[in-house]
Amino acid sequence: MDIEQLKSVANAIVAKQKGVLAADESTGTIKKRFDSVKAECTEESRRRYREILFTTEGIERYVGGVILYDETLRQSTRDGVPFAKLLSSRGIVSGIKVDKGAKPLALFPGDKLTEGLDGLRERLAEYSQLGAQFAKWRAVIEIDERDIPSAYGIRANAHALARYAALCQEAGLVPIVEPEVLMDGAHGIERCEAVTAQVLEAVFSELDAHRVVLEGILLKPNMVIPGMKCPRQASAQEVAGATIRCLKRYVPAAVPGIVFLSGGQSAEDATDNLNAMNALGAQLWELSFSYGRALQAPVLAAWKGQEENAAAAQKAFFTRCRLNGLARDGEYLRSMEGAA
Ligand code: 13P
Repeated sequence: MDIEQLKSVANAIVAKQKGVLAADESTGTIKKRFDSVKAECTEESRRRYREILFTTEGIERYVGGVILYDETLRQSTRDGVPFAKLLSSRGIVSGIKVDKGAKPLALFPGDKLTEGLDGLRERLAEYSQLGAQFAKWRAVIEIDERDIPSAYGIRANAHALARYAALCQEAGLVPIVEPEVLMDGAHGIERCEAVTAQVLEAVFSELDAHRVVLEGILLKPNMVIPGMKCPRQASAQEVAGATIRCLKRYVPAAVPGIVFLSGGQSAEDATDNLNAMNALGAQLWELSFSYGRALQAPVLAAWKGQEENAAAAQKAFFTRCRLNGLARDGEYLRSMEGAA
């Protein structure tokens, strides 16, 4: 394992103003996204959509890394340039989603466990050959009124994340460690903070036990935020305060960067909340984004599967990237929305 190489890749992804585009939707998930704008979902339409994203002019100032799905890592531009090569020529690092999804955890009704460890060493070797320099594994933690998540559910997910992270570092890939506490449900921000704290404690304990070098990972957590159905929603300042407090307690300073998922927040909220955190001043780690929906929802709405909308889609994408780049420095304002 070349620690210096892992560190330099991790640092490049979260360099000043930069974050991650999560474009690693599985075929089933991207179909849902395409359905929502009545776009046809075929191998070619998925390829073309990703090409529109990756060829948008100027995004390299704000996008340090892109997470791809297996199919996409094997695809190319219409001129035949493999996507990983195109991204690398623009100074953007390619990553790959390697988990195989969250399945019900046996004998623990309500808990889920992410699968995909079997054969992972071999898959990582192939992905590295194809140009991936980092990887992603998402653990899903649902909050329910009763005792969900269970302590064992959290531990099992933390263990799987750590086994994945160790295999990535062995293969020379930076692991993005993603324990996502879902924002579905009616719980308040306090419950989200308590569960996020338990999850982060378990994750860092397992990473340590598995000898994972923290300088060569990126953490991709949820923000501390109330459930979507909670009658009392929180301001960006409250979200920022609770999130930073929780992270400071549980995330070691050796971790170079924290790249939040958007998790169902609107594009504007995700940018505003990140901005509020960075407006609190410099922290121990870079605080950045690894958004899927919050970067792509406006792009899909502009594109709608129609080639004549490609330029409008790229404009919408560049705008979201730029605004999140500003949020990296705490310089975003809501009034910038619509003014781009
Ligand atoms: P969202 O930002 O849409 O939550 O997606 C990020 C991601 O990669 C989830 O695994």
